[in-house]
Amino acid sequence: MKIGIVKETFEGECRVAGTPKSIAKLKKQGFDVVVEAGAGAKADFGDDAYREAGAEVLDSAKDVWDAADILTKVRPASMDEVALAHEEQVVISLVSPAQNKELVSAFAEQKVTLLALDSIPRISRAQSMDVLSSMANIAGYRAVLEAANVYGSFFTGQTTAAGSVPPAKVLIIGAGVAGLAALGAARGLGAIVRAFDTRAAVREQVESLGGEFLEVEFEESGEGGGGYAKVMSPEFIEAEMALFMEQAKEVDIVITTALIPGRKAPILWTEDHVKAMKPGSVIVDMAAESGGNCECTEHRKSIHAHGVTVLGYSDLPSRMAHVSSDLFGTNIAHLSKELGKAEGFTIDHDNEITRGALILDKGEMMWPAPKKEVPEAPKAAPKPAPEPVAKTPEPEPSNAGKFIFNMLAIAMIAGWIGLRFGMGDESLSPELANFLQHFTVFVLACFVGWQVVWSVTAALHTPLMSVTNAISGIIIVGGILQAVGPTTSTPVLVGAAATLFATINIFGGFFVTKRMLHMFQK
Ligand code: NAI
Repeated sequence: MKIGIVKETFEGECRVAGTPKSIAKLKKQGFDVVVEAGAGAKADFGDDAYREAGAEVLDSAKDVWDAADILTKVRPASMDEVALAHEEQVVISLVSPAQNKELVSAFAEQKVTLLALDSIPRISRAQSMDVLSSMANIAGYRAVLEAANVYGSFFTGQTTAAGSVPPAKVLIIGAGVAGLAALGAARGLGAIVRAFDTRAAVREQVESLGGEFLEVEFEESGEGGGGYAKVMSPEFIEAEMALFMEQAKEVDIVITTALIPGRKAPILWTEDHVKAMKPGSVIVDMAAESGGNCECTEHRKSIHAHGVTVLGYSDLPSRMAHVSSDLFGTNIAHLSKELGKAEGFTIDHDNEITRGALILDKGEMMWPAPKKEVPEAPKAAPKPAPEPVAKTPEPEPSNAGKFIFNMLAIAMIAGWIGLRFGMGDESLSPELANFLQHFTVFVLACFVGWQVVWSVTAALHTPLMSVTNAISGIIIVGGILQAVGPTTSTPVLVGAAATLFATINIFGGFFVTKRMLHMFQK
């Protein structure tokens, strides 16, 4: 089975749908690969590199379309390319079926099977094939570089002999894939970053990347399910824009990424916001292709409005064509694996990923894919707090569990007091007195331990582990001291068990801490 890779014909597009790296993956899956000569030139992949990876380089696009059973490309095909397709060929690319109905009909007439990479559902299992996320990640990073390029000052604060320069303040609107990538890049350059999103679920991610999460005094959840947003009420948008007016006076750079799938981008940064900004500020409107989040944006252009530079580029991933093509090609290789590799290649309608991406099956219209009947569970799952009013971000342990445990502990303590004082000192045998003493310590330790662990916020559980490691050390010493007597006697068995569990705790603690420290190492 042959996979074809053609040169992109869309003006200014530098990416290519396959690279030597992704071709190696396709070859392992049993595919033969044909590439149009010069297909990767703009992304710095020469024909020889393709040949070395095992591909056959053909002279023209027509040769590749003719030879390929599966044709892959980045941008939606042009009408000239549709004419090159043949019956029962599988075409894989970005399609935007809602915006490109004519293209879909033209492919339908050719009896082509069309898979849209932009329609792959955003579910965990499909992450490795999610081209939109790969590209948005690169675009977010590049947006910061574009802003830095035209911004007339430092991102990081500087103290020099000639005076000090404050760090740049960056505002990110929409903390999805692109927004979070932009946040990380801007923080990396040393800026102070604030972010706003209608989905409260992203607050934790914003904060973990070192950003400040902004909020409006308005209770409305923006969670639309599957990690996407829903359309907000006009009142919410009004409150959001009032918040932005405050920010406009302070921030130097604004990066807007707000998007609701299948809709025109909401206008969130009006001309008045632009006027309120300091001269020399920069806006990167990443949603320019869908209409833009800023009123002053002109698609594909860099303009100056009221002393502010507004960038409306929609080719940000193409500006980093080498890495974009590598990730794009790898996403396609993962998809071809999902489709059954060369030997078992099938368009499985029962596979959620394939069905989501399927626009035409041998010319028959399959889009949009039927909605799954059980979307309710994933909708509820990502919500850490059902209402934004809930001020405590940490998940509380179940109240029922806490209540039962407390009752149990109180019952045990009460039982002990009854035993201890009901019987009087003289009626207690030395063994029972000894047992009661240990039992008291055991019950109290469980009770205090439970209360301490559950009262510490989840974010501090790792430092808490260090403390428990110290306690585990004491338990090991105690366990060894107690394990005296015949091998199968209770003190030996209990002492051995205590030593074993405390050892697991210590080594587990060290292992987790090591992994955590590894995450901070550059
Ligand atoms: P995403 O869906 O992951 O993120 C969009 C975010 O906007 C979501 O978190 C959503 O909650 C938020 N949002 C929606 N309405 C909002 C509102 N009223 N206020 C604040 N936040 C709101 O999308 P992704 O993948 O991060 O893409 C973001 C944008 O970047 C899209 O418009 C996409 O078309 C664009 N993009 C642009 C590229 C370029 O070259 N300029 C390249 C790749 C993506």
